[in-house]
Amino acid sequence: MAIYLDHNASTALDPAVLEAMLPYLAEHHGNPSSIHSSGRIARTAIDSAREQVADLVGAHPTQLIFTSGGTEANNLALNVLASHEVATFCVSAVEHPAVLEPARYWQARGWQLELLPVDGDGLIDQTLANNILQRQPVLMSVMMANNETGVIQPLQSLAQNAREYGAIVHTDAVQAVGKIAVDFNASGVHLMSLSSHKIYGPKGVGALVIDKALDIPPLLLGGGHEKGWRSGTENVAAIVGFAKAAELAKQQLGQRSDHMCGLRDRLENALKTIDGVHIIAESAPRLPNTTLIAIPGIEGETLLMSLDAKGIAVSSGSACASTDTEPSHVLRAMHLDDELAQSTVRISFGKDSTVAECDALLLAIRELTKMSQQMASVAW
Ligand SMILES: Cc1ncc(COP(=O)(O)O)c(C=O)c1O
Repeated sequence: MAIYLDHNASTALDPAVLEAMLPYLAEHHGNPSSIHSSGRIARTAIDSAREQVADLVGAHPTQLIFTSGGTEANNLALNVLASHEVATFCVSAVEHPAVLEPARYWQARGWQLELLPVDGDGLIDQTLANNILQRQPVLMSVMMANNETGVIQPLQSLAQNAREYGAIVHTDAVQAVGKIAVDFNASGVHLMSLSSHKIYGPKGVGALVIDKALDIPPLLLGGGHEKGWRSGTENVAAIVGFAKAAELAKQQLGQRSDHMCGLRDRLENALKTIDGVHIIAESAPRLPNTTLIAIPGIEGETLLMSLDAKGIAVSSGSACASTDTEPSHVLRAMHLDDELAQSTVRISFGKDSTVAECDALLLAIRELTKMSQQMASVAW
């Protein structure tokens, strides 16, 4: 049976989530904007879904709008720039393309984009960040946890500093939610992006949490849905699924996190006994499920394909940038040398991953590294 260890790319739908969604696919087809009873059933489902998703991050339901996913939430968050005079804004150098690309869009329209540099562990350098904050950027966007390395940023202190300089603060919490405790108010941010398919919910739905009436121009114009920010009839079944996934993520956070962390540590402890294996950002605070390893001498893509041939799915970097053969911008920003960066593979455990799967991966990596070392010595 296939072994799936790529949960930072996407997760399987939880059976309880599917069950919650089915009535909204099969029976309750009313438009939530309709005032008849069929419409009201759909509206009620969205209202309670909003409460559940908001509850996952300790926000008020009125602060949350549903989007088509993390990408849309990030794009909408950066749209806040449109309501300001052209000025400086900053985003971390290790952001997901769903933040970096909108940032470049605004840069191309005359905004001064500053990238917040990270150290060798992928953590934002607070002194350099403060130098940039002194230029009083209008917006700072820093992800809570990185999708490639799992590194968790010191968001609270960064957000506090940025607020003191008057910046609006956004965080992409897509990878953090469901893996570590996330509290919207305690994090000190004004805007937070979430995505359902990273927490065992359906794809194509996410949310943006907005702390107060920030002036953000809408993404989609039309009937004024989601407080006018993104018009269009709501995807009721997906929203209901997201809410169920959020409810389970909150209930089971501790046990999921301990379980994944146990597997991650088991894997890393064993990998450290294999000659040449590097664990990237090992000493930084990281998500409990993620490990990024590099095996010099074996290209990440080659290792990925060899593991795939053995029925094991991992990633050679960000899934959203998998068509790119360049070393990832995240590893570049961490000043990892190119050879090491090219030989990275990301393993991300999920709530249902097992010890047997972890050990099967280890065995496969041991075999492949041994084979590669033998081939290298023959070539020599
Ligand atoms: C950190 C991060 N932000 C945003 C996204 C995009 O989210 P979505 O797939 O819901 O658009 C991803 C997806 O991989 C991600 O890892």
